[in-house]
Amino acid sequence: MTASPIARVIDGKAIAAALRAEVAAKVAKAGFTPGLAVVLVGEDPASSVYVRTKDRAAREAGIAARTIRLPADTTQADVLAAIQTLNDDDSIDGILVQLPLPKGIDTKAVIEAIDAEKDVDGFHPTNVGQLADGRPGLVPCTPLGVMKLLRAVGVEIAGARAVVLGRSNIVGRPMARLLLAANATVTIVHSHTRDLAAECRRADILIAAVGRPEIVRGDWIQPGATVIDVGINRLPDGRLVGDVAFDECAKVAGAITPVPGGVGPMTVACLLENTLTAALARRRG
Ligand code: GUN
Repeated sequence: MTASPIARVIDGKAIAAALRAEVAAKVAKAGFTPGLAVVLVGEDPASSVYVRTKDRAAREAGIAARTIRLPADTTQADVLAAIQTLNDDDSIDGILVQLPLPKGIDTKAVIEAIDAEKDVDGFHPTNVGQLADGRPGLVPCTPLGVMKLLRAVGVEIAGARAVVLGRSNIVGRPMARLLLAANATVTIVHSHTRDLAAECRRADILIAAVGRPEIVRGDWIQPGATVIDVGINRLPDGRLVGDVAFDECAKVAGAITPVPGGVGPMTVACLLENTLTAALARRRG
């Protein structure tokens, strides 16, 4: 039997394509070529795919993209030296170090080494602090993409109860801060939360970002809620699923993102936007 969703399925691919076209048009008019450097250490298969996707999307938007591939046994000192070179390179406006890094490399030290003005991932403590302070600078791409999805489908954010499932530095925490800045009433829930289902059922907007395949079930959803699935999980049988049991939840939700084709394309589009933002800010000085 095929699923019969009553929810609106949010077309992240189409919304991302529109944003990419908008960035490309602005780049074409900018009078200079923004530069993006993507650093990949090692050969994690998923990371390799993500990096290729980002590199290609940047080129398509008129951004000069360069991927720096370092072997998995690169020393911490050599990674830091590569970043310093990119910091000093005036043709580079954005630096992204694909995570996770191989064991033995101190992720925090690597992120802190990136010039905050070129930190298109928004992971540097300066950018984290600005977001926490309610004065966003460069904002992490995935939560930024989620905010754009919510706005594109016309969800009322101010005053809504928003529940963020997951507290990672990449998604959960910055997501909560962006929703708060948009005047939602925000709850972060995680692995120690006593009754996850009950907390999620209170959500007008539910963001799932824990990396646990289909943990969010149909009876966790408030009827009519907006459900955003950030998870991308590969099952042993090869299937790609989100953190949300799509078929069950689509019968209850008002709007829901698919996996793939929901949040993922927005992350890439927002990276392009962040690169242009960083490039313009650097030129303004
Ligand atoms: N790994 C998973 N998501 C991300 C991301 O948004 N940025 C980087 N650099 N690495 C990631």
